[in-house]
Amino acid sequence: MNRALVVAIDGPAGTGKSTVARGLATALGASYLDTGAMYRIVTLGVLRGGVDLTDPDAVARAAAEVEVAVGHDPAQDKCYLGGEDVSAEIRGDAVTAAVSAVSAVPEVRRRLVALQRELAGAEGCVVVEGRDIGTVVLPDAEVKIFLTASAEERARRRNAQNISNGLPDAYDAVLADVRRRDHLDSTRAVSPLRAADDAVVVDTSDMSQAEVIAHLTGLVEQKAGAAR
Ligand code: DC
Repeated sequence: MNRALVVAIDGPAGTGKSTVARGLATALGASYLDTGAMYRIVTLGVLRGGVDLTDPDAVARAAAEVEVAVGHDPAQDKCYLGGEDVSAEIRGDAVTAAVSAVSAVPEVRRRLVALQRELAGAEGCVVVEGRDIGTVVLPDAEVKIFLTASAEERARRRNAQNISNGLPDAYDAVLADVRRRDHLDSTRAVSPLRAADDAVVVDTSDMSQAEVIAHLTGLVEQKAGAAR
């Protein structure tokens, strides 16, 4: 698909969002923008600066200095901090534990939202993945998709991933954590997680990732056809 078309994909963690967004971009021959990775790169820069994460002003000052760059090929995860490839490090536990605090700082969001708009505005078809893409970053996106799955199914997936990473089986604790994060994400003051009014909500609880990708590819082609 060559014509300019923006596809926004939002939803909570555990819905298979990243795999699905990359798969969809590949199926469409589109470029891909992972906005979560941008928050993670800034978080790594802030952590390296030894900043107190409970001080939003200090976080905002440090974050403003972090040079962020991401690739746009859905087949390759390329994330850079000041030219250094940090693609693996930003997925580690230290960044994962700190990213919520950093991404809640309004100045951090303002800067990254501006950068995301610039990157998504390039020519051609782009799939943009995040939490607030359809609501805040790109409210004019031609296609908006909000992925959901039940808290139980997201907990089951995360617990299975933990077990395959050598962690103990702790389904009840994982489920409690999923519910706690859902509450925090949907009630926070800045960009709470919610589906845009014009988003198509897709519940992935009982679907394989291949089924979700095929379903979304059909939705995008239908929308693109209708807009022609
Ligand atoms: O999707 P992810 O786990 O890589 O996202 C990392 C963090 O960044 C997560 O805590 C949610 C936050 N985030 C956000 O606030 N807004 C976005 N558009 C994308 C991610």
